[in-house]
Amino acid sequence: MKLASRHLLQLEGMSKEELTLILDTARSFREVLERPIKKVPPLQGKTIANMFFESSTRTRLSFELAERRLSADVVSFTTAGSSVSKGETLKDTARNIEAMKIDMVVIRHASAGAPHFLSRVVEANIINAGDGQHEHPTQGLLDMHTLREKHGTLEGLRVCIVGDILHSRVARSNIHGLKTMGAEVSVCGPRPLMPREIERWGVKVYYRLEEVIPQVDALNVLRIQLERQKSGLFPSLREYHRYFGVTRDKTEKAERSLTIMHPGPINRDVELSADLADSEHSVILEQVTNGVAVRMAILYLLGTTGSAATSPEKGA
Ligand code: CP
Repeated sequence: MKLASRHLLQLEGMSKEELTLILDTARSFREVLERPIKKVPPLQGKTIANMFFESSTRTRLSFELAERRLSADVVSFTTAGSSVSKGETLKDTARNIEAMKIDMVVIRHASAGAPHFLSRVVEANIINAGDGQHEHPTQGLLDMHTLREKHGTLEGLRVCIVGDILHSRVARSNIHGLKTMGAEVSVCGPRPLMPREIERWGVKVYYRLEEVIPQVDALNVLRIQLERQKSGLFPSLREYHRYFGVTRDKTEKAERSLTIMHPGPINRDVELSADLADSEHSVILEQVTNGVAVRMAILYLLGTTGSAATSPEKGA
C-alpha cells in the first residue's frame, strides 16, 4: 500500500488506510529510535530543504532529526538572513532551491495554502509543517500516534480539543484525522474562539470544561495565542484560566484518569496548569518524541514511493 499523493498537504481527505499506514510505519521507527544506533539508510542520496517562514522549535528540530536519522542530506532555511527579507517571492525562493536539485521540501508558512501552491510550482515532494490557520498535518499525526500507543486504539476514543478552535491549525488536523480513524471528537472553548459553523464539522461542542471532562478519555489543550487578547476575543488571561484553564482540580472530577496533551509551546498556568503539565497524566514529552518517529514515517513513505523499499526494517 502507498499514500495516494506524493505530498503531505493536509489530513482532510486522507483515507483511514493511509493514516493507518503512516501510524504503523511510525511505530516501526519509534522502535528504531530506541536503538543505540538510531540511523537507517532509506533516504541516502536524497536532499531535503526545510523552509521555515515562521518560528518553530519542535517541528523544525524534529524534521531535521528525522531527516538525518534516515540518512538524507539536509539544508535549512529560515526567513531571517535569507533573501525573503529583500522581497523575494515564495515561488522564486522555491525555484532557486529546486535548481539546487532538492528532492523534498518541508514548509511552514503563515499563509494558509502556501504548501499547496508550492506543490504546483516545483517538482519536489512537499510536506506541510503548518500553514496559517489551515492545517498542521504532522502534529495531527503525532497526536494520533501518541493516543493510539497510550490507549491501544483510536476507534471510539473520546478526545476533546480545548481552547482557541477558531484560529488553530492543530485543531483542524486533529479533527480530520481522529474522525477518519473512528474517534469521537469534541471541542470546548469560549464562544468567540469557536468557528461559526463548527457543528458541521461533525464534532460535539461544549462551552463549559466541567461539562466535557467527565465525558472524555483525553484532553488536547491548545496554546492560547496571546495576541488574540488584543483583538478582544477574550477578556483577560486570568479569566480565560478560570473558565477554560485545564487544572488538576477540574480533571480530578473525572471518574477515570484523563490523558493530557498539548502541542507546545505551553503558556503555563494559562491554558494548562504547570503541575498538570508535568504530572503522570501528561504525555506532552511523549508527543515530542513521537514527532520524530511520525516525521520519519512521512519522509520515508513519500521519499521512497516507487522505489524497491517496502519496510523501514528492510533498510535498517
Ligand atoms: N507544535 C508545534 O508546532 O511547535 P513548534 O511551533 O515549536 O514547531
